Amino acid sequence: MPQLEREQTAPEQTTAGSPPPVGPCAMVLFGGTGDLAGRKLFPALYNLVTSKLLPSDFAIVGVGRNDYTTEQYRQQMGEKLDSFATGKLDPKLRAWMLERVYYVCGEFQDPALYTRLGKALTDVDKQHNTLGNYFFYLATSPTFFGDIVDHLGASDLACEKDGHWRRVVFEKPFGHDLQSAKALNRQVSKVLTERQIFRIDHYLGKETVQNILVFRFSNGIFEPIWNRRYVDHIQITVAETVGVEKRGGYFDMAGTLRDMVPNHLFQLVSLTTMEPPISFSSGSVHDEQAKILNAIQPFSEEDVLHCAVRGQYGPGTVKGEQVPGYRTEEDVPRDSKTETFVALRLMIDNWRWAGVPFYLRTGKRLAARHTEIAVQFKRAPFVLFRDTPVSSLDANQLIIHISPDEGVSLRFGAKIPGAQMKVGQVEMAFNYSDYFGTDANTGYEVLLYDGIMGDQTLYQRADMVEAGWSVVDPILDVWKALPTRSFPNYAAGSWGPSEATEIIARDGRSWRKIKQ
Ligand code: BG6
Repeated sequence: MPQLEREQTAPEQTTAGSPPPVGPCAMVLFGGTGDLAGRKLFPALYNLVTSKLLPSDFAIVGVGRNDYTTEQYRQQMGEKLDSFATGKLDPKLRAWMLERVYYVCGEFQDPALYTRLGKALTDVDKQHNTLGNYFFYLATSPTFFGDIVDHLGASDLACEKDGHWRRVVFEKPFGHDLQSAKALNRQVSKVLTERQIFRIDHYLGKETVQNILVFRFSNGIFEPIWNRRYVDHIQITVAETVGVEKRGGYFDMAGTLRDMVPNHLFQLVSLTTMEPPISFSSGSVHDEQAKILNAIQPFSEEDVLHCAVRGQYGPGTVKGEQVPGYRTEEDVPRDSKTETFVALRLMIDNWRWAGVPFYLRTGKRLAARHTEIAVQFKRAPFVLFRDTPVSSLDANQLIIHISPDEGVSLRFGAKIPGAQMKVGQVEMAFNYSDYFGTDANTGYEVLLYDGIMGDQTLYQRADMVEAGWSVVDPILDVWKALPTRSFPNYAAGSWGPSEATEIIARDGRSWRKIKQ
């Protein structure tokens, strides 16, 4: 994890100690003509080239069902790079990268594809000295994961021998519930060891998400108050203004609960609440994350009815623009019962967090794009300003801003200047861009770099994925058994259904107002 090491130094020292480039290898990109490859993975690889983190002994083999030649694929990916790269491209580096790109066409379930792929990789090894080290990236529909791994096993492509390594990255979602995640874990572990398996959650590629650990564990002043004695509650908001865009087919099968909660939201929960790991090694960090996910109080059927809210957007106005409701989006059934919004109240059963509620909300077509973790502290024990107009005090809030604002801020009371004693709320803020400039990365750079280096810290272990699913499984079951009749129940451009306000208002609290 090069970023983590770098962030531990002061801003003025950040040039010290650049990470080394990865060793020789070929990256094999299943789903090589798909959206993720063009929009994120190729631009991320280009950024690694510009940062000198890819060696000359490197090649990329795209695998897909489109009938392209290598030349056509290079041209396609070149165009994608031009439109999605985060800065202006250097023509030499662009050409250097595309020279190392190849394409193999076939159906993922066809054994003949793997024979062709094996041959292509042998040629690539000779041409680019990639030494038989293969980094397989499965950017396909999850329905192919099991088959691809079985075929990689049967064709010997996943087998590590004679000093070369083989690793496989699985895009999310890993399974669609607990049972299917367990089945997939069992299936892939017949071919791969856990050390070869990289389950991705792209939230862990975000600097601000990695910074949660640094913020908590490299500063002595926060940890002593990071517990039930001082924290009143924690709110996590992941709000999007986009709808389902071109992904209606996938999204309608998944819904927001599966799409966002056991993965992205639970990463934020676990990093915010876990105990200090004994080191930054992947095993130690994963142990603590898994422990906290297993400590989330299981939802009974009764809890699901009271502590889980679902919503679906109808037509509305987002940032001044009229947008259609979910049911009229492309590839979405007109009577869809799929949720596009979820709010949850959950509790963590351990000594640090017992009795502290966690309120989570996430949804599409909300009023603003905004991701944050708000830690609300308990109020000062009594109001000592007797004989003044101050009758109550606000609680302190520490906000970890994940996106689009990136940073940390602390809200506290200050005297409003004047003859009378009046207290107002002020904010102390750290903005990433003020210290480190704006980040030109896609978020996938660190994940690719780490994966190729064999560092699993920013990937998910089997038990973490299963623990996440085991929390949401009872909610999926109850929602399936009791389909709602109230959809759509929020207007696009709002903050979600009114039940989301009630879930927190019942405890005498309210969602933080997010600026639009
Ligand atoms: C993806 C989900 O994993 O994350 C999408 O499938 C969602 O539905 C996206 O829009 C959000 O990611 P980000 O990085 O834009 O917050």
